[in-house]
Amino acid sequence: MSLSHGLSTDKNWWRQAAIYQIYPRSFADADGNGIGDLKGVTSRVDYLKSLSLDAVWLSPFYPSALADGGYDVDDYRNVDPKLGTLDDFDEMLAALHNVGIRVFVDIVPNHSSNLHQWFKDAIASAPGSAERNRYIFRDGRGANGELPPTDWPSHFAPSAWTHESVWGGEGNQWYMHWFAPEQPDWNWDNPEVEADFLATLKFWADRGVDGFRIDVAHALKKDLSEPLRMRATMEYEEPRDLNGTGILMDRNEVLEVYKTWRTLFNSYDPPRVAVAEANVHPSRLPLYASEETLGQCFDFRFIDATFDSASFKHCVTDSLEMAKKNNSSTTWTLGNHDQMRYATKQGLHPVVDRDEWLLGNGTSHPVDFEIGTQCSVAANVFILALPGCTYIYQGDELGIHEVADIPEDQIQDPIYLRNHKKAKGRDGARVPLPWTRAGENFGFGDGSPHLPQPEWFGSYSVEAEDGVPESPLEIFRKALKLRRELQCAEEITWHKTSRENVLHFSRPNGWNCITNFKGGRYPMPKGEVLLTTQPLVDGKIPSGTTVWFKA
Ligand code: BGC
Repeated sequence: MSLSHGLSTDKNWWRQAAIYQIYPRSFADADGNGIGDLKGVTSRVDYLKSLSLDAVWLSPFYPSALADGGYDVDDYRNVDPKLGTLDDFDEMLAALHNVGIRVFVDIVPNHSSNLHQWFKDAIASAPGSAERNRYIFRDGRGANGELPPTDWPSHFAPSAWTHESVWGGEGNQWYMHWFAPEQPDWNWDNPEVEADFLATLKFWADRGVDGFRIDVAHALKKDLSEPLRMRATMEYEEPRDLNGTGILMDRNEVLEVYKTWRTLFNSYDPPRVAVAEANVHPSRLPLYASEETLGQCFDFRFIDATFDSASFKHCVTDSLEMAKKNNSSTTWTLGNHDQMRYATKQGLHPVVDRDEWLLGNGTSHPVDFEIGTQCSVAANVFILALPGCTYIYQGDELGIHEVADIPEDQIQDPIYLRNHKKAKGRDGARVPLPWTRAGENFGFGDGSPHLPQPEWFGSYSVEAEDGVPESPLEIFRKALKLRRELQCAEEITWHKTSRENVLHFSRPNGWNCITNFKGGRYPMPKGEVLLTTQPLVDGKIPSGTTVWFKA
């Protein structure tokens, strides 16, 4: 694969890429304000290089009051001053490109924040004005419009409607928000909104950004025809409608938006790429991942799959079949900033209700840290051997665990704050990374981190694992490097094993992967061992272990 300015010139680089998700506020803090920043990312380019990544995806770093961890964007074409400047962005991009790592940014097109200038303009303008028509404003029901216009629920709050008076509006209208009230939904039937997002995509693509992760990609278009439909009249739970005709999600028209985006992406050389976050019925995922639309779509099947051979095999088979339908490539992922840390999921006894456990600050049941991390590494190395693209969430390469006991007064997630404290939320997977074994803030930066780091973090730090061959970090490094060398046609063949809980597959070039999920040791097949996530014992594979070998 030839390289120009550090980047491969292969137009299909994204099909089998290893992409690392950076949650910028929790990655590395260069200026000591307790919040990770872009200079922090630049300062860690050598670390990222050591992982043999093809790309990084940065969660939002735009100006935001953080009502939802940055997914409430005030200005799509700027950097939050607490995280740096556009110059810092350019510097980071150049440094990453220089070592062969491409960059994805997160586009949040379903909603802005309430502090976006256009929303401020909308609140200050009269009902029916062009300013209001960029969002979804409606009169309320009831004699005096005192009831929300419909029964639409919000993901973070009981109702998807908030009265304008909350933000000082002097009229009597309500506006729609699928997420928090600080995240008003755009009116995607308005061409001005469409044009503005094209300008945003162009802005970043012109700066040299290689790809885009599209937040809640299925939600942009709503059925806004009058009278607005009530959800109670629907026979199914959205977004499980298979016809693309629901009220709020996964409507067929949204694909037209992405066709326009695709034309823009393809006007660049190399074409810009995209991955959709679309929580839709699996049969509809290929529509978002086609060559005419976004090209790739997250497949979240593994995130909640039980760590056993049957569910893993099922996920792989289904996902590969789906990707074939539209010439896309699969995306594997075990974690992200919205999920409990994968290692913790595996370290908790399967009967434990994870949400309740988290709500109780992790005190109701112990976590087996060691087993959890072992299984997490084994699962990651399993997915890294599959054809397709792999997304790795920052810290998962360290085998890090969920921080379950964030004190109530430090919780930031609207899932907790807005949902009557019924769910603890996602902060436990967003705690600033430990870079050093000890010392102030475990090397994250000089300022007190925006979420508290626990005592035990140091043993999962980069420093503690660096150079230790059996550590998660070194296993990841080895796997990612080998994966690059071994990459071949996007196919697999399953091989029979003599035990139910062992899966074995190979790639066309003789690259084999075998995972012993549970149970006793399993005899190692003949071949040259390339990598093992735990040492073999008397030539046998221990449980919770993945081995790569050449047959
Ligand atoms: C993001 C979440 C965010 C939500 C609203 C999701 O898909 O990953 O972190 O809360 O979109 O923007």
